[in-house]
Amino acid sequence: MTQHIFLVGPMGVGKSTIGRLLATEINLPFYDSDRIIEQRTGADIPWIFDVEGEAGFRLRETNVLRDLVAGSPAVISTGGGIILHAENCNLMASTGFVCYLIASIEQLVERTSRDKKRPLLQVDNPKARIVELLGTRDSLYRKVADCTINTDRLSPKLVASEIIAALNA
Ligand code: S3P
Repeated sequence: MTQHIFLVGPMGVGKSTIGRLLATEINLPFYDSDRIIEQRTGADIPWIFDVEGEAGFRLRETNVLRDLVAGSPAVISTGGGIILHAENCNLMASTGFVCYLIASIEQLVERTSRDKKRPLLQVDNPKARIVELLGTRDSLYRKVADCTINTDRLSPKLVASEIIAALNA
């Protein structure tokens, strides 16, 4: 039986907005793993990356995911790098339905362009970084995903409807 619904995908694809809408639509609680990491740490993600490095952040991310999957059924939006650790993929695949949200590079660049809270994109050429990250991550997202939805031409509400359709298929 499907317990949780996980939203995975690159930074800026809309996982949190869509997840919140989806959760309301199907009457499940909503959790955003990045926000829980920040609440538990008492610091924001840039601080965690600064002080503990990406490795420290990834440990916190796995700890949060372990706790979330052990809880009652929920819609869970994840950080873009959640698929980097095999344990995270196994936890998601074994406890729920994983939805990979995709968007064009142009959309991802546009949606993250004013953002200062994503340490991995604070570089001279964020577009090149987005392309590079997708290059290494796309196959990992696809491997764990039960469905893949292109968000480019859809409102968040329509994406949520597509996820519900995929769940019921
Ligand atoms: C990251 C994505 C971020 C956040 C952190 C690292 C990544 O989450 O977890 O900055 O490695 O892609 P969003 O995908 O919600 O921006």
